[in-house]
Amino acid sequence: MSEMTLAKAYEKYFKIGAATSPAEFPAHAKLLKTHFNSISPENQMKFGPLHPAKDQWNFLPADQMVAFARENGMVFRAHAPVWHGGTNPWIWQDDHGNNASPELLLERLTEQFEVFGARYGDFVQYWDVINEAIDDDPAKPVLRDTKWLEIMGEGYLTTAFKIAKKVAPKVQLFYNDYNEWLPEKRDKICKLIQKLQDEGAPIEGFGMQSHMSIYNVDIDDVKRAIEAYAAFGLRLHVTELDISLYDPKDRSLPAPILTDEMFERQAQLYIDLFRVYREYSDVIDNVTTWGVADDYTWLNYWPVQGRTNYPLLFYADHYPKPFIETIIEEALK
Ligand code: GLA
Repeated sequence: MSEMTLAKAYEKYFKIGAATSPAEFPAHAKLLKTHFNSISPENQMKFGPLHPAKDQWNFLPADQMVAFARENGMVFRAHAPVWHGGTNPWIWQDDHGNNASPELLLERLTEQFEVFGARYGDFVQYWDVINEAIDDDPAKPVLRDTKWLEIMGEGYLTTAFKIAKKVAPKVQLFYNDYNEWLPEKRDKICKLIQKLQDEGAPIEGFGMQSHMSIYNVDIDDVKRAIEAYAAFGLRLHVTELDISLYDPKDRSLPAPILTDEMFERQAQLYIDLFRVYREYSDVIDNVTTWGVADDYTWLNYWPVQGRTNYPLLFYADHYPKPFIETIIEEALK
C-alpha cells in the first residue's frame, strides 16, 4: 500500500469526509487525520441531541466535533436539524402534550437556528438543513407525512431554509436524502428541489446520502441522478456513503453467509463510484462516508439488529481495504 492518503490523492477533485462523533475520537482520530479532510457529526447537531428539552441545551459534543475539525484543518458539514427523526417530541408539543401551534413551532425552529448560527455559523461550511422530507412511496404525494408538515404546512421547508440563511449567511445550505440514485426517488427529489427554488428557498446544494448495497446500484442510474440534480445549478455532496453486503429487502437473522464474491462486488462498486465521482467532480465538492471504519457502523443495527456488516473503506482493525489502492492510484493518473 502506498503512503499516499485518500484526502491527498483527491485534493484536486473533492474533499474526503466521514461522519463521526467525539465518542469515536479515541479509536478513529488517527485514521481521520490521515485519510480525511472533512467531518460530519453523526447525531450531535440534530435537533434532539442539541436541544433535548425546552430549558436544556447540550453543546459539548457538537463543540468537540467543531474543535476537532478546527485543530486538524478539516472542512465541517453540519447535519440534519429538520428531520422526522432525531428530534425530541417536546418541540412539537404544547404544555398539554397537544400539537404545538404553527406559531410556537416556528418560534422554536427560529430559536434553535439562531443559537446554532451564533455558535457555529462562522466555522461550519455546509449544513444539511432539511433531511429526508420525501415520502418513498411513488404513489403518495411528494412530502413525507411528518409533524413538521402537519403543523407548519408545506411551507416549512422554505421557511427553514430562509431562517438558516439569515442566521448563518456564510454557510452553504443543503437538502439531504437517501436512495437518491433510484429513478423513482430521483424524480420526487427533483420535484421538491423545483418547488423549493420556485418558492425562493436559498437551497445551494443537494446531499446524496448514498446508503447503498451491493444489490441495488446501477452505476448508470448514479450518473443520471447526478446530472439531474446538477441541472438545478446545485453543488453536490455525497454525504453518507456506505455499501452494505446485504440486500436491503432481506431482514433475515441469522445473517446470510458472506462470501468472497460479495466483498469483491463491494470493492468493484466502490471503484466504479469513485470513477463516477471524479468524472463529475466539477459539480461534486465532497464525498463523505457514514462512519470511518468497519468497527463502528449503524448497519450493524439497521434494518435489523445483530447482523455484522462491513460497509466502509477501512477494515475494523483500521487497515485500508485493498481496493483503496486502486481508488488512490486512479486519482493520481
Ligand atoms: C440517516 C440520517 C443520518 C443517520 C443515518 C443512520 O441517513 O440522515 O443522520 O441517522 O440515517 O445512522
